[in-house]
Amino acid sequence: MSHIQYLLALYLIIASWSSQVMSRKLQDTFLSERHELWMAKHGKVYKDVAEKEKRFKVFKENVEYIESFNAASIKPYKLSINQFADQTNDEFKAYRNGLKSLHGLRTITGTSFKYENVTDIPVAIDWRKRGAVTPIKDQGQCGSCWAFSTVAATEGIHQLTSGNLVSLAEQELVDCDRKGVDHGCEGGYMEDGFEFIIKNGGITTEANYPYTGFDGTCNTNKERSHIVTIKGYEKVPANSEDALLKSVANQPVSVSVDAGGNFQFYSSGIFEGECGTELDHGVTAVGYGIGDDGTKYWLVKNSWGTSWGEEGYIRMERDINAKEGMCGIAMDASYPTA
Ligand SMILES: *[C@@H]1O[C@H](CO)[C@@H](O)[C@H](O)[C@H]1NC(C)=O
Repeated sequence: MSHIQYLLALYLIIASWSSQVMSRKLQDTFLSERHELWMAKHGKVYKDVAEKEKRFKVFKENVEYIESFNAASIKPYKLSINQFADQTNDEFKAYRNGLKSLHGLRTITGTSFKYENVTDIPVAIDWRKRGAVTPIKDQGQCGSCWAFSTVAATEGIHQLTSGNLVSLAEQELVDCDRKGVDHGCEGGYMEDGFEFIIKNGGITTEANYPYTGFDGTCNTNKERSHIVTIKGYEKVPANSEDALLKSVANQPVSVSVDAGGNFQFYSSGIFEGECGTELDHGVTAVGYGIGDDGTKYWLVKNSWGTSWGEEGYIRMERDINAKEGMCGIAMDASYPTA
């Protein structure tokens, strides 16, 4: 190598290195501006500079992940940079989920299953269109998903039997239901929620006992207002999407899912994982159908506000090879009876 060639090579190496540094710097500046805009949009305030730097790092990693996932188009659903973009998946699961599933812990004797012999099953059903689903709610940073699921299924059966859609009080369950595994924002279980409503003689309205998103003292005056009652509840036979279908064809059903991985940033389309079967989140199946490309799905109401998913809902792939269903949706489902 001549002297000139050597210098030229050195120059090229330095030039390319410095331009990489420059573009990375520019990218960081750009991302930090996006972080600022995102903070303003979602009303985020960090306690100090260190916290902000830490959150920016997580935000940056999430943005990069979401953008590369969407660009790759390997799955039929999209992710978005939503209000959870500054949390790692582990943090997110710890703050939000909160299903204390007793699956495998409680000796399940199996309740009766009144939809066992149902044969009249429509191709698709959307309980929202039949007026049996209240608007999307937001549990906030409280592990009260179980209360939202209990309430949504109860609102559903109440509307189907009475004709009245009444928004009911999750906060009553959070504050007053301390039996079984139910511990307010620290998690709970839908079946214990149904049991509370049965033993309490009913549940009051959202308007009477508004949601705060914090563990509070039970307001016993409000607890005594029994606006909506249920007679009992039944378990959907586990690990059968067929049994779940018979149930959802008849009423909104509380279901448990593994809300790990891409669930956090789900934005639209039919969700087909990856996800496991470690049930950690309570939601409500409010219908099912078939997508444009022929993929069957469950229509699921979540409690993370309307900026998550499809206006607060997720469509999850239905009739998959595994008996547990997508993210374990067929493993641990139940519904109230009126
Ligand atoms: C379903 O049909 C079987 C056989 O006729 C009957 O034994 C069972 O009680 C029925 N189940 C329900 C829930 O009606």
